[in-house]
Amino acid sequence: MTANSATQPAADAPPVLVDFEDGIAWVTLNRPEKRNAINPGIVYNMVRILEELEADDRCKVMVLTGAGDAFSAGMDLREYFRATDNDPKERTRLFRANGLWQWRQLRFYSKPTIAMVNGWCFGGAFTPLVSCDLAIAAEEATFGLSEINWGIIPAGVVSRALASLVREREAMYYVMTGETFDGRRAAEIGLVNEAVPRARLRERTKALAKVLMEKNPTVLRQAKIAHRMAAEMTWEQAADYLMAKVDQGTFHDPERGRDTAMKQFLDDKSFKPGLGAYQR
Ligand code: ACO
Repeated sequence: MTANSATQPAADAPPVLVDFEDGIAWVTLNRPEKRNAINPGIVYNMVRILEELEADDRCKVMVLTGAGDAFSAGMDLREYFRATDNDPKERTRLFRANGLWQWRQLRFYSKPTIAMVNGWCFGGAFTPLVSCDLAIAAEEATFGLSEINWGIIPAGVVSRALASLVREREAMYYVMTGETFDGRRAAEIGLVNEAVPRARLRERTKALAKVLMEKNPTVLRQAKIAHRMAAEMTWEQAADYLMAKVDQGTFHDPERGRDTAMKQFLDDKSFKPGLGAYQR
């Protein structure tokens, strides 16, 4: 099933759609009539879907996006917040599940992930956006840390996520003003890799996914996880950990990529590592 740009899904439409296409799993938040605000249905489905896709060979790269005009308008004020205000058990369960998919699963996901920001992106939606490895936005997309406008702070883990990517001045500016900004500005401040016209968004995302699929998947997984881990270590710890990680990679890689690449470059002279991936 494919998400369309309509604002009204069928009554029984699932809150998240998954479509497979040439190695890409398109994961689409599917409440366009609510601007894909993240409700319990999205939360619990995302936990399950991310778990299932890790074991699904049709998914080489996971792309997270939204149906209709929104990436996501953030947490659902009615169903996520108000409905659980007086239900501490469900609140705990729901908030934990939300943290699970939005960053615990995504930040260390075993497959490459791209956030494709097609439109509105507010508040709590920043966490999965930041947690994806890469992000491409439509120039026309609208971002905002609107929490300050309705009387809360960017919580969940939004403030922490933001601080991991965006410079202090810009982060503080948007946290304190709640001012919106577009896709170009999101690229300028490092929140996304690049912004392209919305008409080219899907095509550009597919091209990027294709580049990732050409790499050795075992090493790609280790490279992204090692990068995230090393960023939070001292230099000495990082040096030791990365050395161990390289050895682990060589040991675990079913492709024996390092040996193949060495042979192609040093012996066969058929490949230049500076200019692209070795022949698999
Ligand atoms: N929570 C619950 N419902 C929402 C949310 C949300 N975060 N965002 C949109 N909706 C609902 C609206 O209530 C409306 O529902 P209704 O048709 O039953 O009245 C429907 O989605 C469509 O929303 P509109 O406001 O009519 O859409 P419009 O395109 O005019 O505006 C916009 C879009 C700017 C995104 C607006 O909906 C908005 O400001 N949403 C809130 C964004 C926000 O502040 N998010 C942060 C939430 S806090 C957090 O994430 C921690």
